Amino acid sequence: MEIIKSGAKYSAIVGIGEELKQLSKDSGKKYLMLNRGINRVTKINLTETVKNIDFDTEKMQFYAPTTGMFPLKKAINTEFFQSTVKEDEISITAGGMNALNLIFQVLNTRKVYVQSLYWGAYLNLFKIQNTPYDFYHSIQSIYENPEEYANATVIICDPNNPAGDKSDDALLLKLVSKLEKQNTTVIWDGPYRRLFMDSSDNLYSKLAQFPNVIICESFSKSIGLSGQRLGFIYSTNEEFNTELAIRLLYSGNGINTFAQLLVEQLLVSEEGKKAVSDFKRITTQVIKKNIAFLIENKLLADEFYQNSVPKGIFVILKKPYQELLKYRIGSVPLNYFSQRKNIDPMAYSRICVSVPHADFIRFFKSVK
Ligand SMILES: Cc1ncc(COP(=O)(O)O)c(C=O)c1O
Repeated sequence: MEIIKSGAKYSAIVGIGEELKQLSKDSGKKYLMLNRGINRVTKINLTETVKNIDFDTEKMQFYAPTTGMFPLKKAINTEFFQSTVKEDEISITAGGMNALNLIFQVLNTRKVYVQSLYWGAYLNLFKIQNTPYDFYHSIQSIYENPEEYANATVIICDPNNPAGDKSDDALLLKLVSKLEKQNTTVIWDGPYRRLFMDSSDNLYSKLAQFPNVIICESFSKSIGLSGQRLGFIYSTNEEFNTELAIRLLYSGNGINTFAQLLVEQLLVSEEGKKAVSDFKRITTQVIKKNIAFLIENKLLADEFYQNSVPKGIFVILKKPYQELLKYRIGSVPLNYFSQRKNIDPMAYSRICVSVPHADFIRFFKSVK
């Protein structure tokens, strides 16, 4: 058997998780696992919402339309776009990773630019699709030199992974407008934004007015349902959407119906809305407290938050991975996420701050 090797790496962060589990097993002691990007302050309570779902129906048991079920698209239009866009411009995907993979399959672009502090999966997706790529330093650096990105593609991830930093929305919108004039495609990869916001957030309605913007969303982080594998892509470009539908058909034959019905109920029913809002409120309050603790104790790497604010669900600490291990705190060294030339990535680590405050304090209180 001969294999086509993409050259992409199986998630390197998985290896860290295994190492941490082994250390915990060997020592018989609990470790605070902040290496993974999962909201673990609370889980979303689905008990009441699932009562609204009838399993014994054709729509539950048969194929859903390839680009997604209309009631879910309508709910997304209301929740994310204040009902200002067309449902057929929304395509349902199996989460954000699937969405990005499909976008890179469909886009013909001279180069995709990602921030030099980036989510590692982007580079692996580029490898798989043979997508040419490069790095930009920061939002400010594109803002100052938009011409450099003419006729190319820029990924904006805000709040960012790994820094968890958030730039000003007005500035981001101005940036998108500048890039539109350069005929730059913007992939707005925003799985973290909506954890901190509700349906009154109208940024996506504004972004939808730019023909070159592709929005890539996920329900993994914003409502804690990474297990359901659900997200969506928004684009006004008809050719893009047509090719995307073909790729959706021949990659997964559409998307799981249960996940679609569940998320629809979470967005439209009273029980669902309450579950979502409780989840967001409890999670974000604790994230805020955990970040405040790190700032107070001068553990945050301020250099990454000069023109933006630490929002979460991640932050970067001024501590190496090995040092945090002494306190039984699991993190990921920044070299997994950085192409910056002016820093030593091994001196920093990324942690997920979306964990219960009491656990966080218990492990961090002695970190100096
Ligand atoms: C920046 C970024 N985009 C997209 C995703 C995709 O998440 P999912 O595939 O769970 O929807 C992640 C997940 O960690 C992420 O960090």
